[in-house]
Amino acid sequence: MNAITKRLVDLRDWVDERFPLMSLWNEHLAQYYAPKNFNFWYYFGALSLVVFGLQIVTGIWLVMNYKPDADLAFGSVEYIMRDVDWGWLIRYLHSTGASAFFIVIYLHMFRGLMYGSFKKPRELLWILGMLLYLMLMAEAFMGYLLPWGQMSYWGAQVIISLFGAIPVIGTTLSEWIRGDYVVSDITLNRFFSLHVIALPFAIAGLVLLHILALHEVGSNNPDGVEIKKLKGPDGHPLDGIPFHPYYTVKDLMGLSVFLILFSAVVFFAPEMGGYFIEANNFIPANPMQTPPHIAPVWYFTPYYSILRANTINFLWIDAKVWGVIFMGLGVLIFFLLPWLDRGAVKSIRYRGPLFKGALGIFVVVFLILGYLGLLPPTPERTLVAQVCTVIYFLFFLLMPIYTSLDKNKPVPERVTK
Ligand code: HEM
Repeated sequence: MNAITKRLVDLRDWVDERFPLMSLWNEHLAQYYAPKNFNFWYYFGALSLVVFGLQIVTGIWLVMNYKPDADLAFGSVEYIMRDVDWGWLIRYLHSTGASAFFIVIYLHMFRGLMYGSFKKPRELLWILGMLLYLMLMAEAFMGYLLPWGQMSYWGAQVIISLFGAIPVIGTTLSEWIRGDYVVSDITLNRFFSLHVIALPFAIAGLVLLHILALHEVGSNNPDGVEIKKLKGPDGHPLDGIPFHPYYTVKDLMGLSVFLILFSAVVFFAPEMGGYFIEANNFIPANPMQTPPHIAPVWYFTPYYSILRANTINFLWIDAKVWGVIFMGLGVLIFFLLPWLDRGAVKSIRYRGPLFKGALGIFVVVFLILGYLGLLPPTPERTLVAQVCTVIYFLFFLLMPIYTSLDKNKPVPERVTK
């Protein structure tokens, strides 16, 4: 051991006597045994962490020049883009980061669906994940108002006024959210405060709980086999390998590929043809002029389609209210997955044709709803959205039936590849 290494080891020991440094390192990295058969789909948890970090860092730098004031906000973003050194890069990293966050989160959630990672004993882990998803949606929605462009303004106006449809408390509730009768400087200030302080803290706290819950029950894997059940004489799972260095290296490789793709978007197509930043948002907000077509950013459009698919007044309740109810249920119903799925096996590899078919149809329907939500409605599109909305909910509501009837395959004792 040379002199420098010895100094570093001494420093580590000094800290370790005062703080559980090595026990945290061992418990969560070096001695955290993860299944040895993680595949492509296991990159997205770590990538979500990285993108969250990126959003925090770029966010801090944006706030250095951003002005949360209805008269100054739009101009301050233009100033960042044109005059601040590297401001354009920081802003595009942050705006592309928002879409990237949802891409990796949707893939992360889809992995959970495929491998039954929401099933016992990971119900709480799933619920924490869903809370993260809700927080992330709120974070993105509030962040979108800040540039104070036409789409920022009118998007917020439309979504907040939806709460007005709720009987009895609706009007008061939407005024409470806005802090005003219309979206205004007051709304911008509170959204800024929530976007920059409250929600990032909530997300960071939930991420911590999410990881702690994961490490309590252990990771699932593409075979859906519980590796903790079979331990070797050393007390470690026979099918597990230490997270560090094996998965830190694997995740670095995933991160490198992700960064190549991410940089390609940031440098060559930061607006992504209007899907990541809409053209209308380069026009300052004008409360006197509604844009001809208002649509949310792509990651909200499946739910926006469900909202618009409700066109029938039913049981004395207005179609708009049904729209809000079904849109809300469309998100919240994911919370129930651990109890709706009665299948005896976790992973799609050993599920029967019913679950495989249902999941396949659900993904197609989710994508169609997402696509339709980007377009202005026509009678034909609304009809397709209605059919897709019904199928969307049937996926969940019929799950107890088709998962218990399904002809599953035998699950191996040990993980395969
Ligand atoms: C900020 C958002 C999130 C972050 C940073 C995050 C991070 C992570 C990490 C690092 C892992 C372990 C690595 C992996 O299995 O890929 C993980 C696992 C998991 N996450 Fe998340 N996650 C987030 C959101 C979500 C959401 C929205 C859900 C679902 C609703 C979810 C459900 C799960 C499940 C079920 C596992 C265990 C998967 C398994 O063992 O197969 N997470 N998460």
